[in-house]
Amino acid sequence: MRPVIITANWKMNTTPADAGPLAADIAKATDVANVTRIICPPFTNLAAVKDALGGTGVLVGAQNVHAEPKGAYTGEISADMLKGLVSWCIVGHSERRRDQGETDQQVGAKIVRLVEAGISPMMCCGELLEERESGRALSTVQAQVKAALETVQSAGNGLPSDLVIAYEPVWAIGTGKTATGADAAEMADAIRATVAELAGADYAAAVPVLYGGSVTADSFGEFIAEPAIDGALIGGAGLKPDQMSGIAATAAEAAAARAPA
Ligand code: PGA
Repeated sequence: MRPVIITANWKMNTTPADAGPLAADIAKATDVANVTRIICPPFTNLAAVKDALGGTGVLVGAQNVHAEPKGAYTGEISADMLKGLVSWCIVGHSERRRDQGETDQQVGAKIVRLVEAGISPMMCCGELLEERESGRALSTVQAQVKAALETVQSAGNGLPSDLVIAYEPVWAIGTGKTATGADAAEMADAIRATVAELAGADYAAAVPVLYGGSVTADSFGEFIAEPAIDGALIGGAGLKPDQMSGIAATAAEAAAARAPA
């Protein structure tokens, strides 16, 4: 059975002074059973958030990692630098694909670095509005997933057992627009079909697929009602304890309903 996962991506928000208290508030507001909770603050606030979350069961994630293990990459952060600070790391977020020109191959290399460091990868994928409107949403996302995961496989050790994939339609991020639950589920099925081609049906069936893009306490229910969707990657609402509280409560109901009798 796949876990139900809710992940707050704080993006470029919070400071070393306010990140710890906010993380503690969110931990308190989301204290429900059988839901994996992850908070991804900026790099500079990882230590404060890790300290604040001690004993809460909420896990800490980074928002990015460099594709190389070390070297002359001024201002970058390696997987080894994250060791001991995080148990998760987001890779391939569409804002990085857009702003830093990250490629699927780089995303794959980042996953390889994370596996080497013992950090669980959460890989983002998603189509642009014009790709959806021209009927290419499924093929675009399948190509992203295939190219990144083939890069992981070409490193020789197969795909990691702790991989999570977050489907985030780019046009839904920070816009207040969401996909429909049915569209997200169709995409999750397409993602798993691609993963199955690469690594087999059993592996694909075990990979959690999250939805992201303007998820709120009000909209989350539509997504987690879909058996193919295992949770959410949450931006704006992930900075709000009351929103995270509602999302966690809905996630806990779904986890209870999915548990084998
Ligand atoms: P949003 O961001 O919830 O603010 O749309 C989601 C994300 O980018 O992960």
